[in-house]
Amino acid sequence: MTQSAPAAWWKNSVVYQIYPRSFCDTNGDGIGDLVGITSKLDYLQMLGVDVVWLSPIYASPNDDNGYDISDYRAIMPEFGTMADFEAMLAAMHARGIKLMMDLVVNHTSDEHPWFQQARQSRDNPYHDYYLWREPKADGSAPTNWEAAFNGSVWQCNEATGESYLHMFSKKQPDLNWENPVVRAEVFALMRFWLDKGVDGFRMDVINMISKPWQLDGSLPDAPVVRDGFLQPAFAMTCNGPRLNEFLAEMRKEVLDHYNTLTVGEAPLATVQQGRDITNAQTGALNMLFQFEHMDLDSVGGHVNGKWARKPLDWRDMSATMARWQTALQDTGWNSLYLCNHDQPRSVSRCGDDGDLRVRSAKALATWLHGMQGTPYIYQGEELGMTNVAFERIEDYRDIETLNFYRVATTERGVSHAAAMASIHAVSRDNARTPMPWSAATNAGFSAGQPWIRVNPNFTQINAEAALADPDSVFHYYRQLIALRKQLPVLVHGRFEAWSPSDPKVVGYLRHSDEVSLLVLCNMSGQLRHQMLPEHLAQRPAQFLLGNVPESGVVWQQHLSLQPFEAQLWLLS
Ligand code: NOJ
Repeated sequence: MTQSAPAAWWKNSVVYQIYPRSFCDTNGDGIGDLVGITSKLDYLQMLGVDVVWLSPIYASPNDDNGYDISDYRAIMPEFGTMADFEAMLAAMHARGIKLMMDLVVNHTSDEHPWFQQARQSRDNPYHDYYLWREPKADGSAPTNWEAAFNGSVWQCNEATGESYLHMFSKKQPDLNWENPVVRAEVFALMRFWLDKGVDGFRMDVINMISKPWQLDGSLPDAPVVRDGFLQPAFAMTCNGPRLNEFLAEMRKEVLDHYNTLTVGEAPLATVQQGRDITNAQTGALNMLFQFEHMDLDSVGGHVNGKWARKPLDWRDMSATMARWQTALQDTGWNSLYLCNHDQPRSVSRCGDDGDLRVRSAKALATWLHGMQGTPYIYQGEELGMTNVAFERIEDYRDIETLNFYRVATTERGVSHAAAMASIHAVSRDNARTPMPWSAATNAGFSAGQPWIRVNPNFTQINAEAALADPDSVFHYYRQLIALRKQLPVLVHGRFEAWSPSDPKVVGYLRHSDEVSLLVLCNMSGQLRHQMLPEHLAQRPAQFLLGNVPESGVVWQQHLSLQPFEAQLWLLS
């Protein structure tokens, strides 16, 4: 089955991401589990989503909450058993919901048997599964590259007198994809899950599997952009020369034999790479998670780290998304996301998490879901969940956050207050507080002590309250998703960028042969006015959906937009 075949069901789909640790705990150990997920499928069905993307559920020592896998074919005991998994998958399929697994194969856990073998000696058959380098003559690290979670990417291994490369924590050694045996192992484990009936993969940092320096063996230092020895190094390890070749092999060996949804996480991806990798004929994956729109509100962008923040300028956001929309619409496909388990909550980041929380959450949803691509909803986004601001660093659990705090406050002279301000803005734990199911103890997430504290606002923001309130963010998402099923233009319509004159108003058009859609959102807390171009204003228009029902919207050339008002119009 090729991607250009008519069954590109993933184009019509809306994906819901579950971070299993924080979704629903049924056995009282404070950690979400698979039985918990199964127990909430009615909720997902009511929302109307088509696919669940499940963050990793494999055996793992949890240095990075499951993104460090020690057995790709086993379920993490805290999450349940293989029987629980099979029951969950069957229950999803019975409801018409597909399941996309997380494929984390740029690296394994250091507790994976492959690595346990590999580190024993240079002539162990598994040694070449990983990436090794000698220290420099003076004993220092082979390069100045800093790992994503701080510290050097190189970790000494006494038994062999070498260092291994780890782009993330030292318990996440990078695999050597140049070794064909490694590729064969990965393809085999993909088949294992596909043969169980799963419907696709979200591929963790997939553009890091080929390293730029691997073919010629050179190991250039990263450019020096700040004081000290270690320098940001993502650019040194992404998008190597054999990336497309490895992905093509994966398609030929595995993906072409199944009917899957594939999305590759791709830090530093450019639109050209997006076009190449998602090209329906010649690319290997259906879509990418690109990061350009996630890097617009940090001072250093993806290269220099995310912790120094600046306000988001919606003109940048609009222009970035428009670039991706325009570049991919004829050949490839976009994913559409504002939230996931690595990002702060979108309503706190780009909306208003105070008085206008509900309205701004709906505006963000309208703006995102109106574009061409497959929309992703991260658990709790459909409730308008907000960031959390724990006062004590001890209440945080995320390795990236804890390492940032330690390095910033002990090595880089950052004050506790400044470090906490960054953490409150952008820590991954903002997204990882337990799903608030109700106003009961522990937000109805667990009868035990949750592994991370609940967001204290759960008494107001929870699923039970949202279901009972017809004006909730949840019911708005339901309407958006339902519209997608009714209006082919929402799925397939051509994207046309449009720059409203007001910098706080964003909008765009979608066109089919018969109709057009106009999406218009005020992304500010003030009243805004926008003139429509004459040729648009003259077309008959039907109001499809909006988040200020009481405003009695009338189609006219001069539109007024309430704070965070979103309007979706169908033009004939
Ligand atoms: C990206 C994942 O989304 C993130 O959670 C993880 O820490 C890194 N890749 C390493 O696997």
